[in-house]
Amino acid sequence: LNQLRGRSLLSWLDYTPQEVLMLLNLSKNMKERYYLGERYIGVHQGKTLLMVFEKPSTRTRISFETAAWQLGMKTIYSNPQELQLGRGETVEDTARVVSRIVDGIVARVFNHSTLIKLTQHSQVPVVNALSDECHPTQVLADALTLWEVKGKVNGIKLAFVGDGDNNMAHSLIAIGARLGWDIRIVSPKRYWPSRRYIEDAEDLGKRTGAVLTVTETIEEGVKGVDAVYTDVWVSMGMEKEAEERMKLLKPYQVNQGLMNIAGENAVFMHCLPAHRGLEVTDDVIDSSKSVVWQQAENRLHTAKAILAALIR
Ligand code: CP
Ligand code: NVA
Repeated sequence: LNQLRGRSLLSWLDYTPQEVLMLLNLSKNMKERYYLGERYIGVHQGKTLLMVFEKPSTRTRISFETAAWQLGMKTIYSNPQELQLGRGETVEDTARVVSRIVDGIVARVFNHSTLIKLTQHSQVPVVNALSDECHPTQVLADALTLWEVKGKVNGIKLAFVGDGDNNMAHSLIAIGARLGWDIRIVSPKRYWPSRRYIEDAEDLGKRTGAVLTVTETIEEGVKGVDAVYTDVWVSMGMEKEAEERMKLLKPYQVNQGLMNIAGENAVFMHCLPAHRGLEVTDDVIDSSKSVVWQQAENRLHTAKAILAALIR
C-alpha cells in the first residue's frame, strides 16, 4: 500500500491492476471494521481535506465528508464561487496556495483538464470526485458491490447500457480492464466511448483477460451478463444536448423487457441519481435484482480506503 501514499486519483488509467486490487481489499477491510463497530480509524488525525465541487453532489460529497471525519480529518467544502477562483484567480495559483495548507483535495469539475492543472500544481493528492471524462471513485464502490453480490472480483460480465461516452462508461471500462471483466458497452454509435479508454482496455486485456465489446445491439450486449448498469442520459454539463440525447437513447431504457433478455443472473446497477421512467423504470430499480442502495452504501467505505491510502 505504501506505493499509493501521496498519489492523486484522476483516472484508473493511471493505476495498475495490482493497485486497484489493493484499494479494493482495503475498502473491504474498512467495511468489515465498520460493521464490527470500528467506525473511527484516526489515521489522518489533525489533517484537513479541501473539497471543491463545481457541480451538485449527494453521494460523493456525503461519503467523502463522512469518510474524512472517520479518519480524523476536518473537511472544508466549497463551490468555486465562494473561493477567489470565482473572481478569476487561476486554478494553478489556487492549487499552489491551498496545497501548502491542506493535506488533500477532492474536486468535482466540468472539465477534466481542470483536475490535471490542479494536480500539476498541487503538493498534496487530488482525488477526482467526477469530471466530464470519468468518475473513478464511483466504480471502486461498484467493484466492491459486485464482489459482494457475485462473490468474485475478476471475470465479471457487465453490460453498461445507455450513454457509452460518459464518465461512468469510461470508468467502468477502465476498472473492468484492470480486474479482468467482460465489459459490454451497449449504446448508439453516436455515444460510443472515447478511443483512449477503448485502446487502454484492449491493451490491458492481453494481461488481465479483460474483454471489451462495444455494440448498438441490446440483445448482443446484455444476454447472460452478471450485471446491467445504466446512468442518466443527460449528464451534468450536457443540458444543451438534452433533446437529442433523449431521442437517441430512448430505445436503451433498462426496463423489465431488457432485464428478461439479460437473464436470471443479472443484477441491476446505477450510480444514481436515477431518472425514473427515463433510463430505468421503477419496476427494475425497485426490484429484488437491484443493488443500487448497496452501491451507494459502499461509497463510504471506498472513500475511506482512498483517503486512508493516498493522503500523506
Ligand atoms: N453517484 C454519484 O456520484 O452521486 P452524486 O452526484 O450524488 O455524488
Ligand atoms: N454521468 C452522470 C453521473 C452522476 C453521478 C453525470 O455526470 O451527471
